[in-house]
Amino acid sequence: MEQEKQIVAVKNYTISKLGADKSGHGMDHINRVVRMARRLAIGEGVDPFLPVVAAYLHDTIDEKLVDSVDSAKAELKNYLLGQDFSAEQVATIMDVIANISFACTLDDEPLHLSPIAKIVRDADWLDAIGAIGITRAVYYGGRHRERIYDPATKPRENMSRKEYRNLADETIINHFYEKLLKLKDMLQTKTAREIAEHCQQMMYDFLNEFKAEWNAER
Ligand code: ADP
Ligand code: NI
Repeated sequence: MEQEKQIVAVKNYTISKLGADKSGHGMDHINRVVRMARRLAIGEGVDPFLPVVAAYLHDTIDEKLVDSVDSAKAELKNYLLGQDFSAEQVATIMDVIANISFACTLDDEPLHLSPIAKIVRDADWLDAIGAIGITRAVYYGGRHRERIYDPATKPRENMSRKEYRNLADETIINHFYEKLLKLKDMLQTKTAREIAEHCQQMMYDFLNEFKAEWNAER
């Protein structure tokens, strides 16, 4: 099968899984990550085919989005084999999407990312910073009934995976210190690190402005 047809098939698979998502992992997020994965692959001199495929699929086995991760993985593997992906390509894709979520970095085991995983993770993380990242944090925080800010609640340090998902005392502004501002230095590709410089400055400017307004110091 031609690669273009395989990409269309994979996109349709993701639409069937995430097309109705309203948690910030819908097709708008997926399509942005795909565009960025293609750009990063080209910037890094890597064939964009598998990065694009993995970017489409990267949230289809996410523990927060599916009932059973194991059955979601099994279903996806079967689907890919049925679309003429080789066993080796399927293994590469599955390895990427099982290891790139931020939550994986909070586990104790060290992560070994393939060059394609680095590209897809960087593309996903670039969608969590900058103007889009700010918007997604506010959207997510509202959906989970977080407070916007509380100067008395300090950001948590060295969170475990369980703490990351515990939103009882979370605020939208603290999420910047607990995660979003840390992403830039965890990016793995040169192309993504260059893009992130500007996004990082924008988030610092936003936080400074927010706190000035909060304290009537504007
Ligand atoms: P990942 O897929 O890397 O595990 P998440 O699904 O946790 O990431 O996050 C999806 C989006 O919601 C990201 O842009 C992220 O920064 C944002 N987000 C995650 N947790 C929070 C939170 N506690 N408060 C505000 N935004 C959040
Ligand atoms: Ni994602």
